[in-house]
Amino acid sequence: MTVKYLQRSIWQRIFGISATNKPQDENGWHYESGKLIISMEKIRELTQPGAAIRFEGKNLPERVLVVFGEDKQYRAFQNRCTHIGHRRLDYVPGTQTVQCCSVSKSTYTFDGKKIHGPAPDPIQSYRVKVTEKELHVQIQPV
Ligand code: FES
Repeated sequence: MTVKYLQRSIWQRIFGISATNKPQDENGWHYESGKLIISMEKIRELTQPGAAIRFEGKNLPERVLVVFGEDKQYRAFQNRCTHIGHRRLDYVPGTQTVQCCSVSKSTYTFDGKKIHGPAPDPIQSYRVKVTEKELHVQIQPV
């Protein structure tokens, strides 16, 4: 698989500034019983194919990146590169990859496997269930 680099400035890479936004409506999600629960009525950004949003804070035990791919499939990952800086990841549009926002650009396939960069390990991915009005991302094992 050819690696495509997300276009970021050197300063964005040095400081590890993620290209992915947090949700506009922070009331549109919560964490309970080991699941990140996202209201699709409130987090409208995730209804556009090729979109990604990062979730962090509140009582969420880990940062989470949710991607709605161009194939209209939802995927979720622990938003933490396995390289030593443990920086955030971004979806790379037009690919089936997510990429570290740092200078070294470790890149992972949608199944979590590293295909580029110094990161030593795969990233954790999470099961996503789509209901009528919500996305359920299983963070903790059932
Ligand atoms: S922290 Fe991701 S490549 Fe270094």
